[in-house]
Amino acid sequence: MTQRPHVVCHMTSSIDGRLHPSRYTQSPDGAVKDWSGAYEAIHDRLEGDAWLVGRTTMAEMAKGEAHPPASFETPARPLHRAAGSERRPLAIAPDTQGRLHFRGPDVGGDPVLVLLGDGVSDAHLAELAADGVSYLVSDGAEVDLPRALEILAAEFGVKRLLVEGGAAINGSFLAAGLVDELSVVLAPALDGGTDVEGIVAFDGGLKGRFQLSLQSAQTIEGGAVHLRYRVLSA
Ligand SMILES: NC(=O)c1ccc[n+]([C@@H]2O[C@H](COP(=O)([O-])OP(=O)(O)OC[C@H]3O[C@@H](n4cnc5c(N)ncnc54)[C@H](OP(=O)(O)O)[C@@H]3O)[C@@H](O)[C@H]2O)c1
Repeated sequence: MTQRPHVVCHMTSSIDGRLHPSRYTQSPDGAVKDWSGAYEAIHDRLEGDAWLVGRTTMAEMAKGEAHPPASFETPARPLHRAAGSERRPLAIAPDTQGRLHFRGPDVGGDPVLVLLGDGVSDAHLAELAADGVSYLVSDGAEVDLPRALEILAAEFGVKRLLVEGGAAINGSFLAAGLVDELSVVLAPALDGGTDVEGIVAFDGGLKGRFQLSLQSAQTIEGGAVHLRYRVLSA
């Protein structure tokens, strides 16, 4: 059987299931602003050897502009393993159309790997390779998440992946049956809006498919609770 990493989907949620802490009501004593400290501390304790965020979040970290090389040799497909990509943890993002640009090989010190659709140009792949960024091109227009996880395990030795996306990422991984655990920092806060998606986005495709088995519940800072669930097929 083909192996894939153990996947923990880690998130901070309001009581009404929204993932944008900057919009939350504040803790009553005003001491906790956005629960990011608790989120990051638990991220460290979860000990992933890779973490994955959506393109939007990775763009905020990458901060690059397009800078395709003036000339280049035909870049490798489907896989480019950059120098230094053996360092851990790996920082991963899907970028179907090749819109992420980097300033170097890592974000926050973690080596980057990008998952792309096969419509991405050679010039973009050459830019990533020149920046020292690893990449994996899917065999199709969309990013093939199950196959990508198999290759992360087989080619990069990733054993434990933290999926730390917004609703689209979380929904995609769950719908593909790729999430083993949920790790939720439940903030004592409300978003109150209906203009952003909840914990997952997936057009009803998750209904009735999974059960969540509580593994632990721990009160943490500012009245937040850290919940861990195992994800079981229904
Ligand atoms: N509370 C939390 O725990 C938490 C954690 C992370 C992020 N967030 C918030 O959520 C917002 C967005 O997060 P995010 O960028 O990490 O994730 P996201 O909203 O789930 O996804 C953002 C983008 O990632 C790409 N993407 C998502 N699913 C994909 C799939 N299955 N295949 C290929 N590409 C896919 C899409 O980019 P394309 O448009 O290129 O297709 C999508 O627009 C941010 O504002 C952030 O603050 C909250």
